[in-house]
Amino acid sequence: MEKSNIVWQNQHVTKEKRISLLNQKPCILWFTGLSGSGKSTIANAVEEELHKKGIKTYLLDGDNVRHGLNKDLGFTEMERVENIRRIGEVSKLFVDAGLIVLTAFISPFKSDRQIARSLVGYDEFLEVFIDTPLSICEKRDPKGLYKKAREGAIKNFTGIDSPYEAPVEPQIQLKTDECDIQACADKVIFHLIKYGYIKGDENDYAI
Ligand code: ADX
Repeated sequence: MEKSNIVWQNQHVTKEKRISLLNQKPCILWFTGLSGSGKSTIANAVEEELHKKGIKTYLLDGDNVRHGLNKDLGFTEMERVENIRRIGEVSKLFVDAGLIVLTAFISPFKSDRQIARSLVGYDEFLEVFIDTPLSICEKRDPKGLYKKAREGAIKNFTGIDSPYEAPVEPQIQLKTDECDIQACADKVIFHLIKYGYIKGDENDYAI
C-alpha cells in the first residue's frame, strides 16, 4: 500500500473538547494474566461499579473480540502479537473518545504490552496484573482448556507450551488467591480515585 498518499486530517472536535463534556480522565486499564486467572470476571466487576458511578467505559474482552474484529487470528506468537496490536489501537481510539477502557487479554508478551502503552500517554495506561498462579488457573479450568492442552489437543497454550511473561512493575497487582472479586475490583477503583481518573472518596474502597 502506498502510504505517502494518505494525509492525516485534523478534526475540529478534539480529545480535550470531548473530555471537557465528561467527568473523568480517560485511560486504559490493561488486565493481563493467564487464562482462567480472573481477568474478565474482575474487569466486569470494575466496569459495573464504574457504570453505577456514571463513568463512561468500554470493556474489550479477549474471547469476545476474537469472535469479531480478531476472528481471523489464532494463537501462534505472530497472531497473538497482531491480536494485541489491534487491541492497543482500538483502545487508543476509545481513550481519544474520552472513555475509561478495560481490556482483558492474556497479552503474554512484555514487548506487546509495552507497544500498547506507547500508543497513549504514560499515565493513560494502567497495567493490572491478575496474579493467579498457574496451578490455581489449571485447577479452576473453567472452560476445560488446560485439560485439553495437557492432553496435547490444544497447541501453544499459555502456561503449558507457550510462555507468559509476567509484568515487572504493574500499576496494580491483584492476587486472586488472597482477595475475592469484590476486593480486587475495589482495589482498582481505589487506584482510579486516588490518582484522579474519577472523582469520589477513595476511603470507600480502601481495603
Ligand atoms: S492472547 O494471548 O492473544 O492475549 P486472548 O486473551 O486474546 O489471548 O485469548 C485467550 C482466550 O482464548 C483464553 O481465555 C482461552 O479461552 C482461549 N484460548 C484458546 N486457545 C488458546 C491458547 N492456545 N492459549 C491461550 N488461550 C487460548
